[in-house]
Amino acid sequence: MEFFDSHSHYNDEKFDEDRDEIIIKTKEEGITKWICAGYDINSSKLSVKIAEKYPFIYSICGISPNDVPEKIEEIEGMIKDIEQLIQNDKNNRIVAIGEIGLDYYWNKENKEIQQEIFKKQIDLANKYNIPIVIHTREAVMDTIEILKNNNVNKRGIFHCCPLNRELVKEALKMDYYISFAGPITFKNSKNAKEIVEMVPLNRILIETDSPYLSPEPQRGIRNDSRKVKFVAEKIAEFKEITLEEVAKQTYKNALEVFNKISKK
Ligand code: NI
Repeated sequence: MEFFDSHSHYNDEKFDEDRDEIIIKTKEEGITKWICAGYDINSSKLSVKIAEKYPFIYSICGISPNDVPEKIEEIEGMIKDIEQLIQNDKNNRIVAIGEIGLDYYWNKENKEIQQEIFKKQIDLANKYNIPIVIHTREAVMDTIEILKNNNVNKRGIFHCCPLNRELVKEALKMDYYISFAGPITFKNSKNAKEIVEMVPLNRILIETDSPYLSPEPQRGIRNDSRKVKFVAEKIAEFKEITLEEVAKQTYKNALEVFNKISKK
């Protein structure tokens, strides 16, 4: 069985001690490919470095809503830095712009800056013909509105998709992909089954968001991409299909949406 973890942060400092060791173990235990996501300039640079070293890891680069600049005038410079990474990426390791989006849970005071840099990064994705990976938290309506008014040519993925009916409905209407993570396995995620059932299998991706959000039955400890299997198992259980079907289709979906990844 092959698994594709569509979102992780092996660039996080929690992996500084044993990054290479964990990457090798992850690969050996059947995780065939995965994405390492940046969230600011430095983490994006590191994600490219990791993807350069390991051909089965791909990088996504971007400025997350929690890492936006303080002043709106500083946005342009940040966008240039991200674009520079793409222009230097001779080996096609950067497969999407992300994670980008809106987060009003952590910060309500700078909505305008969050929205502006989100839109600018959509333009960047369109310029390079790659999809976007969206982080949205307590900002459902604004996120949908921005996506409706700013068409993303290669569409994108709702990473660690909030278990929110309205958001999922709109995302599917726009033909976006829904990426499920550890929270669907949590005992207190009351509507997880209902939300997973709403999404057709050909629109589902699976992810860990490691080192965060470790799924049940290993909640609370450092997460890594091997645990994407628990997320896949939960989807299989909710949809009453086999784990193989989930692994196979989510793998195929990932290769479809990340259009730059070689299908080999
Ligand atoms: Ni993330």
